[in-house]
Amino acid sequence: MKILYVASEAYPLVKTGGLGDVAGSLPPALQALGHEVRLLLPAYRSVLDRLGAQVHTRTHLGLHDARVRILETELPGTALTVWLVDAPACFDRPGNPYLDAHGQPWPDNAHRFAVLARTAVAIARDRAGLDWTPDLVHTNDWQTGLVPALLSLESERPRQVFTIHNLAYQGLFPAHTFRDLALPPFLESMHALEFHGQLSFIKGGLVFADHLTTVSPTYAREIQTPEYGCGLEGVLQARSAHLSGILNGIDTRTWDPATDPHLPHRYDARSLDLRRRNKAHLQREMGLEVSPRPMLVGMVGRLVEQKGIDVVLEALPRLLQWPLQFVILGSGDPGFERSLSRLAAKHPHRMAVHIGYDEALAHRIEGSADVFLMPSRFEPCGLNQMYSLRYGALPVVRATGGLADTVVDATPEWITARTADGFSFTPPTVEALVHALDRAHCTRRSPKLWQVLQRTGMAQDFSWERSARAYARLYARLLDASPSG
Ligand code: ADP
Ligand code: GLC
Repeated sequence: MKILYVASEAYPLVKTGGLGDVAGSLPPALQALGHEVRLLLPAYRSVLDRLGAQVHTRTHLGLHDARVRILETELPGTALTVWLVDAPACFDRPGNPYLDAHGQPWPDNAHRFAVLARTAVAIARDRAGLDWTPDLVHTNDWQTGLVPALLSLESERPRQVFTIHNLAYQGLFPAHTFRDLALPPFLESMHALEFHGQLSFIKGGLVFADHLTTVSPTYAREIQTPEYGCGLEGVLQARSAHLSGILNGIDTRTWDPATDPHLPHRYDARSLDLRRRNKAHLQREMGLEVSPRPMLVGMVGRLVEQKGIDVVLEALPRLLQWPLQFVILGSGDPGFERSLSRLAAKHPHRMAVHIGYDEALAHRIEGSADVFLMPSRFEPCGLNQMYSLRYGALPVVRATGGLADTVVDATPEWITARTADGFSFTPPTVEALVHALDRAHCTRRSPKLWQVLQRTGMAQDFSWERSARAYARLYARLLDASPSG
């Protein structure tokens, strides 16, 4: 099958979150299964700076309000062809792909991602001079939502899959944007892209793609309810027969405690004792009291409400009375950053906070922490809990979305069945979170059981190959073809 995969970020070229991980892993995994895959990304300045001479011009393209150059390169470390949409007015600027230096969305985001979408449509219809037509176009999140909407106007078009990585980000713009972008008037309808008087990019995907996926089966169900649907639950219920969940994989080469270059001491399921040395190293590095005794709780991620940071902040004063230590790495909401840093300053031997983005430190936390905390209010998939399982840092999670689909709670029943590998709780409350950590704390008194839980988690298969096969089966069903080759 020939697949055009369109995304607004892909690791290692550009990444702000899990979407980048997925777009950097799934396309090469599909290619490894024998499919012909092309990845289409914006040519952000940071991407071009990084690639230097490793790009060449494939073609020029005139869109209705922009001229773009399509550059070709390979995704570093893979043999995957990447096409970059080079439109300097849109993408040649410093910093984050979506936000300006003040953390506000770039004012021309609608135009920028419309240019990405129009380029994708030109390629999909073989009007870009690339001499290549995909059988299927796979788009992701609001930044690519206009692709299915615009392709729906074409008489002949490839099949389309749209993946929702996070329904909370919808790409909403004022109504005049319909005209600014010269979108056909019929798209300005509640049955198309209109959402409460605004233009919704994500609705383009939700309404017009042949099939919708989300990144976990539980999230696929949750988003059809008012609690998780962000106002789009009606649209999603209407598409229910064409909506399913496929769990993300993780990059098992980058995230392997046996070969991880970021760990002071590498280990596997038979040498879990070495984690103690990593723990001592991390305690020293972060200025915490160096001791194997306190249960070290790790957290890595965006410091935003989605991740339940407010609940953690409320629980911390109580938790810091226990023999626990916290190492928190992340950035996001300035208010959360300040409150966490302030608490850490008050409890320097018990709590360390590092504000920023630090890949190596993230690895050291996974390789050292006794438990890894993810009390997310919602979590479409979540990657960190899978890293934690693989690293023997027992996840303590709120049972929602992908967290519910990957972590098996250490109840007596699941312990007996030998499937338990972490701790979960349901209400997004301080009480529930504290109780779950208390259960972890008590369980830690039985080192044998603790190791069984660790080894169960470490034995899970979270490889991309498994997810890629599930996507290939879906594509084949949509194309009425055989899933391999
Ligand atoms: P989301 O996409 O909602 O942010 P995920 O768990 O799916 O959450 O993916 C987050 C990705 O970003 C993971 O690869 C995680 O390790 C990484 N990450 C997030 N924040 C940081 C940080 N401050 N430092 C290092 N890595 C981070
Ligand atoms: C989103 C979600 C996260 C998911 C990631 C990749 O950022 O918040 O849960 O893992 O996308 O699909």
